[in-house]
Amino acid sequence: MPRGLGERCFWVGGLLLWLSAGNAGDASLTPQPNCTDFQNANFLGGTNLKVQFLLFTPSDPSCGQLVEESSDIQSSGFNATLGTKLIIHGFRALGTKPSWIDKFIRTLLHAADANVIAVDWVYGSTGVYFSAVDNVVKLGLEISRFLRKLLVLGVSKSSIHIIGVSLGAHVGGMLGHFYKGQLGRITGLDPAGPEYTRASLEERLDAGDALFVEAIHTDTDNLGIRIPVGHVDYFVNGGQDQPGCPTFIHAGYSYLICDHMRAVHLYVSALEKSCPLMAFPCASYKAFLAGHCVDCFNPFLLSCPRLGLVEQGGIKLEPLPKEVRVYLVTTSKAPYCVHHSLVEFFLQKTRNKDTSIEVTFLSSNVTSSVKITIPKQQLQGKGIIAHPNPQCQINLVKFKLQASTRVWRKDWTTIVGRFCTAPLPVHDTKKTVCLPEPVNLQASVTVFHNLKIACM
Ligand SMILES: *[C@@H]1O[C@H](CO)[C@@H](O)[C@H](O)[C@H]1NC(C)=O
Ligand SMILES: *[C@@H]1O[C@H](CO)[C@@H](O)[C@H](O)[C@H]1NC(C)=O
Ligand SMILES: *[C@@H]1O[C@H](CO)[C@@H](O)[C@H](O)[C@H]1NC(C)=O
Repeated sequence: MPRGLGERCFWVGGLLLWLSAGNAGDASLTPQPNCTDFQNANFLGGTNLKVQFLLFTPSDPSCGQLVEESSDIQSSGFNATLGTKLIIHGFRALGTKPSWIDKFIRTLLHAADANVIAVDWVYGSTGVYFSAVDNVVKLGLEISRFLRKLLVLGVSKSSIHIIGVSLGAHVGGMLGHFYKGQLGRITGLDPAGPEYTRASLEERLDAGDALFVEAIHTDTDNLGIRIPVGHVDYFVNGGQDQPGCPTFIHAGYSYLICDHMRAVHLYVSALEKSCPLMAFPCASYKAFLAGHCVDCFNPFLLSCPRLGLVEQGGIKLEPLPKEVRVYLVTTSKAPYCVHHSLVEFFLQKTRNKDTSIEVTFLSSNVTSSVKITIPKQQLQGKGIIAHPNPQCQINLVKFKLQASTRVWRKDWTTIVGRFCTAPLPVHDTKKTVCLPEPVNLQASVTVFHNLKIACM
């Protein structure tokens, strides 16, 4: 591939990345008079951060008002009695305005009666990742000065909520550190991994940085951090790879950032409140999928955390535990929510080998499966099915007993058992529904049963 004008290559997260400036423009947006838009750094990033603070208020969600050192922020419609939400973007490879930010601001203003301030540090965040990292302290100091101005107006520290994307999450951590953990809330959207995984608590986001710190992890094997950094850490679909994202490097830039940016899109979905994005504490994603974590008793005493603006994610517990890993499955598209169901199979008789059964939920247009394993000499096997529709919309359950691996001989194995399911969170047995009839299975033969669960 010949390299033309306007094309650059960068190292991002250890990968060589080709970018063409041709499709990078955001010029179609023509701001209204006196509204200020994000800057466009055109690769000319550097040590001059040129930070802009853009204030958005509910009265005009699409007009960013530039708040300068000298300006009277109250005359711009800033309301000190409302909460204040600060959005900090991350590394901008192309030096352009973040493509997600307009929608993010609109949705945030719709979801909360608050002052929303977007921090534009496009200049300091472009070029190579490591120079953006070098700018974090300087940026933190600059935002800290800005916040002090707000505090003078009577804004309380606990009403400040910082939402940081990628590197921006660690900028939030630095601010939280400057304010000795007294800020209200920090939300890290896939906090950056490179240069931060082994950083000190002062340098990176951690649970000590605000009264409530939460992080959404969507790319722990590449651009995101894999260690827990908040009170609650959501590992979405296990945290590494997201459904619907390309898995081949040939997909280029979209391959590189799809998993990472999913945290942003998921958070926007949570703000839109079209469906609950609830998560479950567990030792690992594997253990969660195996059905070992179906309530939120340990450590949340049954209050399961939810993505979105609800106070402390809905956790009613004092003091808050920290670095709690919580897990959820999502679909590949907005609004991403699934209904998690515990599915259980109870054998009538123990067997002297492991029993593997594929269980599938079918609703009118979607199917979702899980493989349940019943260890030898045991009676019970279980797992989690993640289905976009609630249980009452499931028409059929499909069962298939896996044949033994010796395929050259017909496997005549049959088993009899009982099937039960319950929607998560499972707090008592009241919501558990079992098929009234026994389930008879023969190896490799598909069997259907009706699931009749009334919608509440
Ligand atoms: C823009 O700002 C100027 C001076 O600061 C002011 O006179 C003018 O009315 C403003 N325009 C709008 C549309 O607010
Ligand atoms: C600030 O917000 C409060 C609460 O919504 C409201 O009662 C008050 O009128 C607002 N003040 C101004 C100046 O808009
Ligand atoms: C499946 O059907 C439901 C209800 O008819 C609909 O809301 C949903 O969008 C459909 N899902 C897909 C993936 O087509």
